Amino acid sequence: MKKKALALLLGVCMVTMTACGSKAPEAASGTPAQEADGAAGGEQEAEAPADGDGAAAGEAVAGVVWYNFADTFISNARQTLINIGAADGTITITDADSTNDVSTQTSNMNNFFTQGVDYLVLNNINTGAISEICDQILDEGCYGIFANTDTPTDEDFAKNDKLYSVSSVATQSGTIMGEALAEYWKAHPEADRNGNGKLDYVMLLGIQGHYDTTVRSQYSVQALEDAGIEVNNIGGEIICDYSRATAQEKVAALLANYSDDIDAVIACNDDMALGAIEALKAGGFFAGEDSYLPVCGVDATVNGCQAIKDGTLLVTAMNNPVTLAKAIYKVMYLTNNGEEVTTETIGLEGVSVDGHRVWLDYSPVTIENVDQATYDINDTAF
Ligand code: GAL
Repeated sequence: MKKKALALLLGVCMVTMTACGSKAPEAASGTPAQEADGAAGGEQEAEAPADGDGAAAGEAVAGVVWYNFADTFISNARQTLINIGAADGTITITDADSTNDVSTQTSNMNNFFTQGVDYLVLNNINTGAISEICDQILDEGCYGIFANTDTPTDEDFAKNDKLYSVSSVATQSGTIMGEALAEYWKAHPEADRNGNGKLDYVMLLGIQGHYDTTVRSQYSVQALEDAGIEVNNIGGEIICDYSRATAQEKVAALLANYSDDIDAVIACNDDMALGAIEALKAGGFFAGEDSYLPVCGVDATVNGCQAIKDGTLLVTAMNNPVTLAKAIYKVMYLTNNGEEVTTETIGLEGVSVDGHRVWLDYSPVTIENVDQATYDINDTAF
């Protein structure tokens, strides 16, 4: 651990662990731990790593900058990472909330640089400035791990041996939604509600320009077209910042004009899918068999899985926050021990390593397998 980091460690940890402990998602073993409406849910104290006198004292310090603590998927990944760090004790996890704001992200990063962290983990929202951020990390001399976001370029990686990315393969999640929707469309001729021969879909996007949402929207539509289905977009690109409330509001507004035309909703995460379902219910959908409308999502959150069981959500793609947290921690653990990061050394199911890029696979979740779509944020084995 750097001296600067050691000096500041106590204060940082006190602040961070208090914040972490105050709002941690509730976790039942073997069950995804999530909360309604994307807000942090049940109370659960996160244990701070202790060294006998109450101070966190791992061998290295990580400053983790998440884009938004209130995001359902992120809150689960965040809590798992805290849990793993607390259980293992090698890497001390401190974190900060960018509240979906680029300037807050920048000041969070700068604070961690000032503190002299050994690892800067960035769930980046400033997608236009990746190379600049990589250069800054290089100047600071710490490790940089881009998490659940666009990966740096080959050139960025070539400049810095201490640069990594850990992310899921976003293309898969789009394809999973598109293929499930294509299958439904082909099996249900009545799904063409206005009889125009086209699948009229609404596309709900996350943060503008965010890699996952861009790729998910492209690949879902591509899968429909690859299945020979003619598609028609209703409403354009509807930016909802991954938020359930925003999606609900925007779909409700759209229904005023297009209620008879919409054949499906493709949402780039489950929270937005759930918001859409609420709006659709208020608009008279899901009232009986003849008012069903296929809605697709990504993440397999607890509420997303519940919606599949309820018969409202058609499909979601398992985006496992526990695997994400484990992969991030393992990269730090291995590099801190001077070990190479490979698919074998990472040793996590569905995770593969290509150079300094660590990739996580998605898998489809439907009514067929929803009961197996589980993870446990208290699982600290990495
Ligand atoms: C995505 C996830 C979204 C949101 C986003 C933030 O992978 O599906 O729900 O959490 O990451 O980076």
